[in-house]
Formats: sequence, C-alpha cells, structure tokens
Amino acid sequence: ACSNLLEYRGWVYPSQIYDRDKLEYIYNEFQVRDQDVFSITYPKSGSTWIQEILTLIQNDGDTTISQTVPIWERVNWLEPSIFSLDLDSLPSPRFLSSHLPVNLFPKSFFTSKAKAIYTVRNPRDVLVSLHYFSKVAGFLDELDNIEELLPKFLRGEVFGGSWFDHVRGWLGVRDQVNLLILTYEELLQDLRGSVVRISNFLGKELNEAAIDSVVENASFKIMKNNSMSNYSTFRKDILDVQKGSFMRKGISGEWKDHFTPAMSESFDAAYKEEMKDINFKFIWDQ
Ligand code: PPS
Repeated sequence: ACSNLLEYRGWVYPSQIYDRDKLEYIYNEFQVRDQDVFSITYPKSGSTWIQEILTLIQNDGDTTISQTVPIWERVNWLEPSIFSLDLDSLPSPRFLSSHLPVNLFPKSFFTSKAKAIYTVRNPRDVLVSLHYFSKVAGFLDELDNIEELLPKFLRGEVFGGSWFDHVRGWLGVRDQVNLLILTYEELLQDLRGSVVRISNFLGKELNEAAIDSVVENASFKIMKNNSMSNYSTFRKDILDVQKGSFMRKGISGEWKDHFTPAMSESFDAAYKEEMKDINFKFIWDQ
C-alpha cells in the first residue's frame, strides 16, 4: 500500500510530488529570512485555511489577490518537488507553507527570527479527511476504508509520517522559536478571535472592517466557491476535484460517524500512550 510513498529519514511522502534531493536541499541549504512567515501543519490540518487568512490579512481584508491569484502562488509550498519556483527570488516578506516536521525543517529557521504558525487538528478528523482526500489526490493510493487506514495512520505509514512525532516535535521547540500554536477547532469555534491572534502575531494592525472582511472571506463557504482557493484550477493529474472536493466538509467531530467503538478504543489507547509526556492540552483532550 506504500508503493507510491517515499521514505525519507523516518518520514513518508508521496513520491510523485516529493523527492529526496529537494527535501535534502530544503533542510540543509534553504536560507530562511527573518521576515519569513511560515504556515506549518501535518497534512489535512488546515494549511489551506491559514494560507487564505494570511493572504487576506496581508491585504488588509481586500479580496483582489485572494480572488485572482491561485492560493499556491500566494503562499508558496516549501518542500514538494512539483513546485519548482525559485523561492530565493521572492521578495520579502515571503509567506511559505510546509508539512515538514521539526527535524526536516530548514536548519536556518532555528537561528532566524522568522515566524511560524503551527496548526494542529484532532488526529481522528485528520484521518477521516485524509481518507477522502486520497480519492481526489492522484499521488495517493486510495487509502482503503477508514478502518483499514487507522492502524497505518497510528504507525505513521501515511502521507506526512507519524502525526504524533510531528506534533511532539513542533511542541518540543515552541520555546526556542517564534511559534504561534493554533488548532483547527479553535479556528472553527472562533474565527474572528483567531484572525486577531494571527494578525497580532504578525505585528499587523487591522481595523474592524478589515477583520470583518478577513473573517467573511476565509469562511468555508466562500473558500469552497473561490476557484483560486479550492484547487479546481490545479493540475488534474495531481488533484482531480471531479472525484470529490478539496474543500470537502470543513467540520470537527466527523470521526464519530466513522469510528466504531473498537476503532475509537484502539485510537484512544495509542493516543494516550504517545502523548503521555506532552505538557499541552488540546481542545479534544478530556
Ligand atoms: S492539505 O492537502 O494537507 O494542504 O490540506 P489542508 O488544507 O491542511 O486541510 C484540508 C482540510 O481543511 C478544510 N478546510 C476548512 N475547514 C473549515 N473552514 C475553512 N475555511 C476551510 N478551508 C479548508 C478542508 O475542508 C479539509 O478538511 P475536510 O475535513 O476534508 O473537509
């Protein structure tokens, strides 16, 4: 089932859109600038949402750019090899997006003053989202049914590697770097408050009307209908939104409709064990 996945230093990526050389380059050589702003997530955890919010904040709520420029050109992906744009040629401030864990992230970040937003989502919903995404994404094998996918997810044998290692890694460096930790669920519960937190973190002052516009235009409904954000204009061999939406449901707690009691129990047991030394309470932790 991992036939199309590349293993790289303990992490797993789809080989159609990632390669070793680029991962190696990004880790060793890529030069982070102090003015850079990163959105970092494990896959299916809200990267697109943060990308849209960053664009809108940067433009004081004006929607011209978010409605006319594809999202992957507004906030560039750092590590996938299918994006060959020379990131060094971009003017500052650069807005960059990444799924990388701490130990593959550009070394130069850790000695810079660059800012990063790390967005975490309930891993149960990440698993469900990933399952549906595998139907749309040409670079993923169809990821079975959710029941068969669950043990693979827990072992980290999926796009992005181990969710637990990813989250532990980034939480582990939170006092050493300029990191804002958000959750997908907080964005859902209080988008306005989250937008204000993000703009404060960026040192960007927005007036009330600008905040209103960011909140409105980063809503699921508007993003789903924004052809510059919903991946409907992306390469069809990579993402075919005829096979299902990229902006699919945009809710939390959907896992409850898909997990049997046995699945839920095995997930909870693994989660408890893996997260036992983590000094951080997420919204979904009881
Ligand atoms: S990817 O492929 O890893 O970059 O995907 P990512 O963008 O991280 O995550 C995709 C999920 O985020 C949902 N999404 C949103 N939810 C609520 N509101 C807004 N505005 C929004 N934008 C994106 C998207 O629908 C995917 O979740 P699911 O559960 O599949 O719907």
